[in-house]
Amino acid sequence: MNILEVNDLSKIFNLHILKNKKIEALKEISFTMKEGEIIGLTGKSGSGKSSLMKCIYRTYLASSGEIIYASQDGSIDMVKADDHRIIELRKTEINYCSQFLSVIPRVSAVDVVCENLFRIEKNKTRAREQAKEMLEQLGLPSDLWDAFPVTFSGGEQQRINVARAIIAGPRFLLIDEPTASLDARTKDIVIDMIVDLKRNGTSVLCISHDEYTLDRLVDRRIELQTGRITAVEMDGVEV
Ligand SMILES: Nc1ncnc2c1ncn2[C@@H]1O[C@H](COP(=O)(O)OP(=O)(O)OP(=O)(O)O)[C@@H](O)[C@H]1O
Ligand SMILES: [Mg+2]
Repeated sequence: MNILEVNDLSKIFNLHILKNKKIEALKEISFTMKEGEIIGLTGKSGSGKSSLMKCIYRTYLASSGEIIYASQDGSIDMVKADDHRIIELRKTEINYCSQFLSVIPRVSAVDVVCENLFRIEKNKTRAREQAKEMLEQLGLPSDLWDAFPVTFSGGEQQRINVARAIIAGPRFLLIDEPTASLDARTKDIVIDMIVDLKRNGTSVLCISHDEYTLDRLVDRRIELQTGRITAVEMDGVEV
């Protein structure tokens, strides 16, 4: 079964401060994704990878086309769905892990990680224990667990970001550069955690520039070049 079907998607940005200059960030994007699949989204900087992910999560509203997501309650077009439905899906099924952590002021690292978990694990002590276990696995020093991530290093913030996105086992995970600022050992741990999610049925769309991560993690790749899909791989073969 397909979890996602993207049909003829385009995204045009109107830059008002530049006399309405138009940037066509995505052009005629079509692809499908099977349930339980891990797709790697690749391509040069500026090719449109994050924009595509944000259109799927509905941070950006696509200019035209369809994004059909097979939710547990039936299919839904993420381009046309009303905001309430999108918010509900974000709470229950779809998680997005951005390239950079947007830090919530004065919330401890553990509670940032628990944000999604608190919805399904009502016992906050148990949820925090689970978050600490995950942070320990990710090698985040224990004296940082109760600190505010605003002062953390890039790699420390990234681990918080990844932990927050995966801890509640989302049905569909959109993850932008999960291993970019991690050392080799932590990179392996993050890859293993995402593979574990897949074993439990999560479908994953993952942006990465990192060959090692792509080789170890993804079932197939989709490459973007200036907003268009230029290559799709099926069973390890380019088509
Ligand atoms: N909010 C926005 N407003 C205007 N232009 C945007 C916006 N977001 C993205 N763009 C433009 O869309 C194009 C694609 O950007 P995008 O961030 O999707 O690239 P990317 O492939 O994720 O790059 P990177 O690998 O550097 O993260 C770029 O030209 C970018 O300037
Ligand atoms: Mg990007």
